[in-house]
Amino acid sequence: MKSDCGGTCANFQSSPWHTGFLIQTAAVLSFLLSGSVQAADSATAKALVVNLCSACHGLDGNSTDPKFPKLAGRHPEYLVRELKEFVSGARKSDIMTPIAKTLDPDEFKGLGEYFGAQKPGSGVVLDQKMAASGMKLYQDGDEERGVPACSGCHSSTGAGSKRFPRLAGQHKEYLIQQMQDFRSDARSGAGSRLMREVTKRLSDDEIKAVAEYLTGL
Ligand code: HEC
Ligand code: HEC
Repeated sequence: MKSDCGGTCANFQSSPWHTGFLIQTAAVLSFLLSGSVQAADSATAKALVVNLCSACHGLDGNSTDPKFPKLAGRHPEYLVRELKEFVSGARKSDIMTPIAKTLDPDEFKGLGEYFGAQKPGSGVVLDQKMAASGMKLYQDGDEERGVPACSGCHSSTGAGSKRFPRLAGQHKEYLIQQMQDFRSDARSGAGSRLMREVTKRLSDDEIKAVAEYLTGL
């Protein structure tokens, strides 16, 4: 909604029709309308976060308990996709599935935008040597063993994108758990095939090392 308005408003201002009364009126009207819908959406999202999400994920999406993933700074589309997967059962979680089912799917986007706009924090690296070996695996992969560079999908900074989740700053425990779940096929949503293949080629030590590196980003 925000980008629609940004694009539309900017176009109107730079267009030669800009001074035309009708068009200007239409632009003002659509601006006001989209502005109020947007405000309503984000107010609803904020209320949902306060009441339903913040106890576990933190009000700013930087959860303090490592059992709960940080959501700050994740791409809104990725968040929406995961919520849909919890609802459909494609991704299984005894905690998240019932919560996602209480939401109206129309609310997913606002929640995604809310968490996407929060500033992500980093975790603490306790073992620099381990983090250095994790960095090598993350950035370069291991060609001989057919392990692709993680950075190729999740980006070199770990920021991710709409298809690939942000990993930078995430709790180590959560990263390790998810990688183990992919490896054992316990996490098996629609987008998980790649990760299930990648993790089957990783040892426990490699999983720990890459998590040690990523939490510090
Ligand atoms: C009682 C604690 C709890 C509450 C409340 C909660 N969550 Fe979660 N959430 C979790 C746990 C635990 C996981 C990890 C699930 C797993 O192991 O796959 C998770 C995972 C997620 C993920 C997937 C993140 C990823 O890295 O892929 C999203 C998105 C999410 N929650 C959104 C929400 C939203 C939005 C709300 C509020 C409407 C919410 N959660 C409320 C505990 C909670
Ligand atoms: C070919 C692309 C690709 C490569 C290479 C890749 N990943 Fe992923 N990764 C994904 C996708 C897609 C997902 C989301 C899976 C889903 O939706 O269940 C994901 C999810 C994850 C998650 C779960 C994050 C969360 O918040 O739930 C972790 C952890 C992860 N990847 C770590 C790694 C590591 C470490 C490597 C390198 C050893 C790696 N990935 C390589 C595509 C990739």
